[in-house]
Amino acid sequence: MKASFPIRFNRVGSANRPCWFILAALFVGSAIADDELIEEAIFVLEQNCIECHNADDAKGEITLDRAPLGVNDPAMIVEVISGTDPEMPKDRDALLEEEIEILKKWVKAGAKLPKGRILEKPEE
Ligand code: HEC
Repeated sequence: MKASFPIRFNRVGSANRPCWFILAALFVGSAIADDELIEEAIFVLEQNCIECHNADDAKGEITLDRAPLGVNDPAMIVEVISGTDPEMPKDRDALLEEEIEILKKWVKAGAKLPKGRILEKPEE
């Protein structure tokens, strides 16, 4: 019967759809996870680093307030906050373990900041 062909074709088509849907959901899911990590890193940077590392006041000639970061190698960020007597934030208490973890993950994921976004130190 001729009519059965388009019907079977439709079934194949709809059987493929959930597969695409899952792929799309995974893609969107990982993008959201990425954005969340970036927002968490921005919060840590704004609270602890931007005051001394912005375009107007770039201590050590390091800027961390926008993309592209003004640091030769983002791995340096992890270096200076890690260890028993971390170099940064300068003259302050070391970051919390949780904050260090966030920056580590963020650096590992490419130390990305949203285009055009300028980080600001918190209001006093
Ligand atoms: C109170 C000011 C201040 C704060 C807050 C601060 N820094 Fe710095 N940072 C400096 C100064 C000053 C230097 C230049 C080197 C020095 O004097 O130790 C520097 C240098 C650096 C360097 C280069 C280090 C090197 O060896 O050349 C990095 C990377 C850096 N800071 C990252 C950070 C990060 C990440 C934070 C937040 C967790 C932070 N800084 C917070 C003042 C600050």
